[in-house]
Amino acid sequence: MANDGDTGNSEENAKPSMWGGRFSAPTDEFVARFTASVDVDRRLYLYDIRGSIAHANALAAAGVLSPADRDAIVDGLCTIRTAIEGGEFVWDPALEDVHMNIEARLTELVGDAGKRLHTGRSRNDQVATDVRLWLRDRIDEIDGRLTDLMRCLVDLASRHTETVMAGLTHLQTAQPVTFAHHLMAWYEMASRDRERLRDCRGRVNVSPLGSAALAGTTFPIDRAASASELGFDAVSANSLDAVSDRDFAIEFCAVASLAAVHLSRWCEELVLWTSPQWAFVTLPDAYCTGSSIMPQKKNPDVPELIRGKSGRVIGNLNALLVLMKGQPLAYNRDNQEDKSPLFDTADTLCDCLDAMTGIVSAMVPDPVAMRAAADAGFAVATDLADYLVRRGVPFRDAHEIVGKAVALAAERGIALDAIPYEDYRTLSAAIGDDVYEVLTLDGAVAARDHAGGTAPTAVRDAIEAARRRL
Ligand code: ARG
Repeated sequence: MANDGDTGNSEENAKPSMWGGRFSAPTDEFVARFTASVDVDRRLYLYDIRGSIAHANALAAAGVLSPADRDAIVDGLCTIRTAIEGGEFVWDPALEDVHMNIEARLTELVGDAGKRLHTGRSRNDQVATDVRLWLRDRIDEIDGRLTDLMRCLVDLASRHTETVMAGLTHLQTAQPVTFAHHLMAWYEMASRDRERLRDCRGRVNVSPLGSAALAGTTFPIDRAASASELGFDAVSANSLDAVSDRDFAIEFCAVASLAAVHLSRWCEELVLWTSPQWAFVTLPDAYCTGSSIMPQKKNPDVPELIRGKSGRVIGNLNALLVLMKGQPLAYNRDNQEDKSPLFDTADTLCDCLDAMTGIVSAMVPDPVAMRAAADAGFAVATDLADYLVRRGVPFRDAHEIVGKAVALAAERGIALDAIPYEDYRTLSAAIGDDVYEVLTLDGAVAARDHAGGTAPTAVRDAIEAARRRL
């Protein structure tokens, strides 16, 4: 983020209000503070300036603004941008928001031309334009971060297509899977998050400019021209809707919430995998912290924080939904409260994606520990049942027979492949001495060789397809 400078002090820097014509008494000091948003929305300055330049160009093209005034406005706005980015701009809460701070300074710099800029415009279409432009850039940033993460997942997966681990249901050993298959499950989630984000971008990238306060403008400005100057795909189709609805921001927060929930689920797994009881994965020291009292501890704080921060992202979605639900058309000041949750959502998601990418590229899996855990839980029981089915036993009967085999092995404290052949024969005459071939972890994963399956060959295909899509 650019340097936002200092807000200064409202009393000392009090400037004449920009809407005070009909007022005879000054704003109550508390009310001024209560209604001011510049501390939060000054972050929109760049988009406010771009939107103002596009609007000035549209006014000039319509013959409403002289070319000289337009040039003065553009120069003044560029000077303001430089001042803001150099930390020299004095933000004044008495001027409420980013829009009036910039306009007031513009008028100081260029005189009457500055006062003409707001012709045919309202802060209502102005702020909606700014937020959409801001969000479009954040979406593109998040898209890039998601893509980085997906690349890291594919890279790690490509090194572990033969690494066998226990696949779990109910957090208990279910069937063997490859570590690559597990990582590619994460990849698929991220890939849908990116699709949703791109879909959402299309609805964000629509220009409200020209809607003015709520009903449109009496000036013949070319909305399509200012929209295309700002890189919007379209102009909004209804001025009342354009200035008031924040569904585009809510949709982004919903997309972000799903992405955050995915990250949170992966982090829950990482917390388990890095615990000494599992020890499937080691995180580098740089991604862990210690305990102030227990010298032996190396805690997975980064995954825990990603898991925890998903709560904020979900909370922000809820805040925006509730903010919107009671609002009649058209603009209401409630909407000023959209900024903090929206900004926080984008910031938090960016940070969490960076942290996750760091973890994925630095984590060190332990294939031996993974295999040992898979060996311990009768993970190949389904393969034995499938074997019986191939020999004509109905699946339900096969399930029963294998259940007995598991009970026998559990009683003796051995694995299924350690049950002697004679014992298998007593359990079922359908079992031949080739049964041991299906009782290996590698055989079990290799047998699931179809699109979407866990076999090394199938996962290699999935990785190839992912690489092509990236
Ligand atoms: N700061 C306001 C917002 O963020 C924009 C100003 C609209 N104010 C108004 N009185 N119509 O939504």
